[in-house]
Amino acid sequence: MNAFGTGAFPAYRPRRLRQSGPLRALVRETRLSAEQLVLPLFVRSGTQLRRPIAAMPGVFQLSIDELLHEANAAHAAGVPAVLLFGIPDAKDALASGAYSPQGIVQQAVRALKRELPRLLVITDVCLCEYMAHGHCGIVHHDAAGARILNDPSLQLLARAALSHAEAGADIVAPSDMMDGRVRAIRAALDEGGFVDTPILSYAAKFASAFYGPFREAAESAPQFGDRRSYQMDAANAAEALREVALDLQEGADMVMVKPGLAYLDILHRVKTEFGYPTAAYAVSGEYSMVKAAAANGWIDERAVTLESLLAMRRAGADFIITYAAADAARWLKEG
Ligand code: PBG
Repeated sequence: MNAFGTGAFPAYRPRRLRQSGPLRALVRETRLSAEQLVLPLFVRSGTQLRRPIAAMPGVFQLSIDELLHEANAAHAAGVPAVLLFGIPDAKDALASGAYSPQGIVQQAVRALKRELPRLLVITDVCLCEYMAHGHCGIVHHDAAGARILNDPSLQLLARAALSHAEAGADIVAPSDMMDGRVRAIRAALDEGGFVDTPILSYAAKFASAFYGPFREAAESAPQFGDRRSYQMDAANAAEALREVALDLQEGADMVMVKPGLAYLDILHRVKTEFGYPTAAYAVSGEYSMVKAAAANGWIDERAVTLESLLAMRRAGADFIITYAAADAARWLKEG
């Protein structure tokens, strides 16, 4: 028989299985649940600080006390993990704040693990928030202009990841896109005695205009140039598979595709090709667009958000990093 019923069997009528909610649920192929969501949080020094991000309604730069409230509320709603970004008091040319034991992320990790030990703490490992120039690696200026140096940056990234593990991070997530950073981080973790700390690598991270609002949130906009010499060209899919293969060879335990919605083809290929735990990152611009349209009454925020997250699951994401994690978890509970 074929799907159009031209064989010896009765016609296949797809609508038979769409007649009621319970029937549709019975044959549903993909599910979205709160335990697949990760909430990114921005932390900076201070107390009782909730500094709003203009382009991301509902997202704040938080002092550690407020971070604990926010993390606790998300955890209570069913979100199992947070992804931490730090905004340091001072920036320099060697990103010292990224690997200082007294750095803002290191302090926040210790506080989170003390107050909410069952919440998974993932740390973003990058240098851009801590560099005066806002790039993700060490910058070298010469007659030809400025270059982002690859290999010298690896040592700083490895130090940052190790300092996060020492503070108690459950998972480290390098987002810098330097070549070889997963190998360098794995070696540093192993040497430091953290053989069981997993690496979630931002393996296929594209140079994307969808990161715009994030750079206000993390205060990490490059002061000159752009990130196209290290993040991927939006046109490339085969190269994304090579990036993922490299990171897995270097010891990544999980891989990420970023951004989310505009890169579902990449997500699908990464999941089917490698079969490793795969994350999607629904980035700041995706969140801002939904918020802006919803504020105008043009779309249904809840329905659009849940449909977008489901689409990432259908494409192959095992879990999703989203600024809407706590809201989505509550909506999913309401049913
Ligand atoms: C740091 C980093 C960025 C994002 C995650 N980690 C910014 C960038 O690469 O410019 C973007 C996240 C978002 O837009 O939500 N390198």
